[in-house]
This record gives sequence, C-alpha cells and structure tokens, in this order.
Amino acid sequence: MLELDGVDVAYGSVRALRGVSVRVDAGELVTLIGANGAGKTTTIRSISGLLRPTTGSIRFEGTPIHTLAPEAIVGLGIVQVPEGRRIFPELTTERFERVYSLFPRLRERRRQAGNTLSGGEQQMLAFGRALMAGPRLLLLDEPSLGLAPLLVQDVARVVTDLKRSGLTMLLVEQNARLALTLADRGYVLETGRIVLSDTSARLLANPDVQKSYLGSARVSR
Ligand SMILES: Nc1ncnc2c1ncn2[C@@H]1O[C@H](COP(=O)(O)OP(=O)(O)O)[C@@H](O)[C@H]1O
Ligand SMILES: [Mg+2]
Repeated sequence: MLELDGVDVAYGSVRALRGVSVRVDAGELVTLIGANGAGKTTTIRSISGLLRPTTGSIRFEGTPIHTLAPEAIVGLGIVQVPEGRRIFPELTTERFERVYSLFPRLRERRRQAGNTLSGGEQQMLAFGRALMAGPRLLLLDEPSLGLAPLLVQDVARVVTDLKRSGLTMLLVEQNARLALTLADRGYVLETGRIVLSDTSARLLANPDVQKSYLGSARVSR
C-alpha cells in the first residue's frame, strides 16, 4: 500500500533521512522505532507531503505521492495524527457517531473547549479528528508521548481496535516496547537510517534492540 524507496530528506545542511526504505502492506500495522532525533517525525511528514524528499520516492498503491500537495495526499486517504496532538484549542469536539462510539469520553466532553481536555482526552480528540477524514492509511506520530501509564493503555486499546477493523497504520514511537507489542513488523531508525527491519516478535527478542530500546529504565524520556 505504501512504499518509501531510498528517501533522503534534509533541513538545509542537516540530513535528517538517508536512504530510508519502508513498506506497509494493506491491513498491516507497521512501526518505526528510534530515539529522539532519529528522524521519525521527518519520515511521517514526508509521507504527508509536508516535507519533500531530495532523493527517492514515496508511492501509495503504486502512485508516486512525493510530488503531491499535502491536501491531495489527505484526499487519497493518508491521514496523520501529529506528534503533540496539535488540537485546535478553542473548538469543541465535533459530533460524529463512529468516533463517539470509539471514544465515549469525547461524547461526554463534546461542549468542552479543546485546551480544557486532559492530555489523554486530547489524544483521543486527535485520533477522532483523523478518523473523521475516513483514512485508508493512518500515520501515528508518538501517540503515547507525555501520557500517564493508564492513558497509554487507552491508546494501545484504540490502536488494537482500529487494527481489528482492518485499518492500515504506520506507528512511530520512542516507546519501542509498546510499539512492538502492537505492531506486526517494525523498522529501527538510527540517525536517519534504517538499521534493522523484522517482525515485531523477532525485534523484541533481538539482543541489540533489547539493549538499546527495551532497557528496563525509560532511556529516552
Ligand atoms: N525544522 C527543522 N530544522 C532543522 N532540523 C530539524 C528540523 N526538524 C527536525 N530537525 C532535525 O532532524 C533530525 C530528525 O528530527 P525528527 O524527525 O523530529 O526526529 P524524531 O521525530 O525521531 O525525534 C534531528 O536531528 C532534528 O534535530
Ligand atoms: Mg518526533
């Protein structure tokens, strides 16, 4: 469904991605894990058309999308839940039955301004907003970031429900244990390069991954 092939992205003289190749098949949940600054958000933003690769290609169902405008990419059904949630602070939550059935809490809070919602509720709102666009491919940028452990479990439940419903997702996370627990396959990104790619089960069992990303202490927070 989605194929990045040899993608380079730079911010001026800073080369943020170097030859990144990633594939997501229809119905799959694929994760991209990596430390702070590895290039995870850059990858998501280049798929969304917010950044342009200097080299390489990004295809969606065989069609090159790396030359399209962000709104055209959303029109194809590629929708992003941005890092840090990026909710509209003054808007109340919209009415939408499918979203409310997934997130009953949003129904309760529908008259409440976005910036008065808790962090977990804002994350649900950001998910809900993305789902209202009717995505075929959902790009999730660190949905667990900054959430209390109980709310991280809520996010995990929502991702699991969406996967069961057949939605294709690319999940980007610093929380590698969470991401690999949810995903079918994963890629490890280090300073802009993919250094490993395997099934989630094999990545969880990989001693290098365990040492760098699954240590008992939360290393990179
Ligand atoms: N707007 C920007 N201008 C310059 N450098 C940036 C910008 N955004 C990100 N970078 C750099 O690109 C690299 C990758 O960043 P990012 O994709 O945000 O990483 P991650 O999401 O994995 O934490 C980092 O070295 C970061 O400092
Ligand atoms: Mg990021």
